[in-house]
Amino acid sequence: MVLERLRSLCQVHINPNDRTATREELIEALRDVVILVPSGPDDIDAEVLESAPKLKLIANFGVGYNNIAVETATRLGIALTNTPGVLADATADIAWALLMNAARRIGEGERMIRAGEWKCWGPLQLLGGDMAGSTLGIIGMGNIGKAMVRRAKGFTMRVIYWNRTRLSPEQEKDLGIEFFERDDLIREADYLSLHVALTAETTHLISSRELELMKPSAYLINTTRGPVVDEKALVDALREGKIAGAGLDVFENEPEVEAGLMELENVVLTPHLGSATIGTRTRMGMMVADNIEAFLKGQPYPNLVNTDVSKD
Ligand code: DGY
Repeated sequence: MVLERLRSLCQVHINPNDRTATREELIEALRDVVILVPSGPDDIDAEVLESAPKLKLIANFGVGYNNIAVETATRLGIALTNTPGVLADATADIAWALLMNAARRIGEGERMIRAGEWKCWGPLQLLGGDMAGSTLGIIGMGNIGKAMVRRAKGFTMRVIYWNRTRLSPEQEKDLGIEFFERDDLIREADYLSLHVALTAETTHLISSRELELMKPSAYLINTTRGPVVDEKALVDALREGKIAGAGLDVFENEPEVEAGLMELENVVLTPHLGSATIGTRTRMGMMVADNIEAFLKGQPYPNLVNTDVSKD
């Protein structure tokens, strides 16, 4: 559906390989291209942009654009658009799935059954964390953070949050959440879920210091961007039982996954599935097409990121 629409708008060339293009392939492919539709793993850095003389629009397939050199794009007069507002529920669903999977040890249980190692039900077998009455700590209270609050309320959890800008007392009351300073929140949470964008300030926001602050019974969930968590420090914390478990949908060097994580039973790993539902990916694709159509018709972009880009 999305591809048909794109093809009705312009000539479409798709990365022919079932992997991320290398820098050389990207540079070669962009030589005559006017519109680029990258997704998360494509590293659209300054050098790539400088080598694309005809490029006028980057219609990013995704909301996050930490992989794109925005300042260079702006300087070169290249507009950048993204797909905000349509993936909060799907991403919160994956965060919730990871949270429950880690806490209730679903992966471990399934591996036990498949390995033929399940002998009988036992009162102490694979005991996990409780949901009801426990405390969910959310770092980053944007659309996805709020979607997490709605899920947590259904599970009768207490929700505390930290955000760079505190919400108004009315918003906090409506959502039924309490603001905590970041370290206090990390100390208090039974489940800690990360929903901040990746920036210089949020890189390794969770490192050995923060993992030390967490309760030994707590779980860490990351569905935002891998570098927000120091993966090596996380491996140590999981190995040494400093925290009970983790659920990760994103990794520091995707698609590489820190070797230590693979060996651990107390971590659940998914391959960046946050927005991977049929409905969400279709909506994202249609937003990409809306932005492309606006460019072709000379109309204002529905989702322009670099609003200071020159219009000519
Ligand atoms: C985004 O849109 O930034 C997501 O990572 C894609 O799932």
